[in-house]
Amino acid sequence: MIKIKKLSHIYNYHKKDQIKALDSIDLEIKNGDFVSIIGSNGSGKSTLAKHMNCLLLPTTGDIWVDKMNTKDKSKIWEIRRKVGMVFQNPDNQIIATTVEDDIAFGLENIGIKTKLMRERVDWALEVVEMEDYKKSEPHLLSGGQKQRVENITIIYITHLMEEAAESNRVIALDKGKIALTGKPEEVFTQIDVLKQLRLDVPQVTELALRLNKRGIDISPHTLKVEDMVESLCLYI
Ligand SMILES: Nc1ncnc2c1ncn2[C@@H]1O[C@H](COP(=O)(O)OP(=O)(O)OP(=O)(O)O)[C@@H](O)[C@H]1O
Ligand SMILES: [Mg+2]
Repeated sequence: MIKIKKLSHIYNYHKKDQIKALDSIDLEIKNGDFVSIIGSNGSGKSTLAKHMNCLLLPTTGDIWVDKMNTKDKSKIWEIRRKVGMVFQNPDNQIIATTVEDDIAFGLENIGIKTKLMRERVDWALEVVEMEDYKKSEPHLLSGGQKQRVENITIIYITHLMEEAAESNRVIALDKGKIALTGKPEEVFTQIDVLKQLRLDVPQVTELALRLNKRGIDISPHTLKVEDMVESLCLYI
């Protein structure tokens, strides 16, 4: 679905203060894959994402979305129809007149069919404890409430990811390069590497490792709270 070959991006290319934000990235994402891209501030995540819907074009290298090269001007709108994006700042994102419609728009953007929409919207509002605001106007919400509403799309995607655990992949960026890649349980348990990349280590994994060091038989690859609870219950 997405193929990236030797992609580099240099901001201010024609000026003195060049910034190499992406440095020869190779990456392939297949249809149905759920890939999380992580990395500390300035590691290149947003720059990479912007290449996926032609908001930026490569300085060198290529990126194809469903076999369409993003450099092909005639394909821009077709590519943008395929690549939905949720932005960091909730004020830039809210577009509908009610919270309910706004969430529906976000879910539609990630490919959820209308038939499923109503029940999904209700489920999502419950998760973020915003059921009472279903019919409210989004721009009247507080900053934190807006963020909760906009987080719904992310929560929803994460939920899907857990269901599709087989095709889960995490890619860690560092200074515009792929520093680490693998399944979540492989990536998030490499505590020393994660710390080197200035990334937080999941609390459950850190706890599992500490208990493991003290001789308690818990897999150091424990990532989910449920698994930790299950392992600990064996000791009661
Ligand atoms: N429009 C721009 N002009 C010049 N430099 C930029 C621009 N946007 C980003 N950069 C630089 O490119 C590098 C990568 O930035 P990018 O925004 O892709 O990082 P990020 O991983 O998304 O960070 P964050 O976690 O803070 O969102 C940084 O050094 C940043 O300062
Ligand atoms: Mg960013």
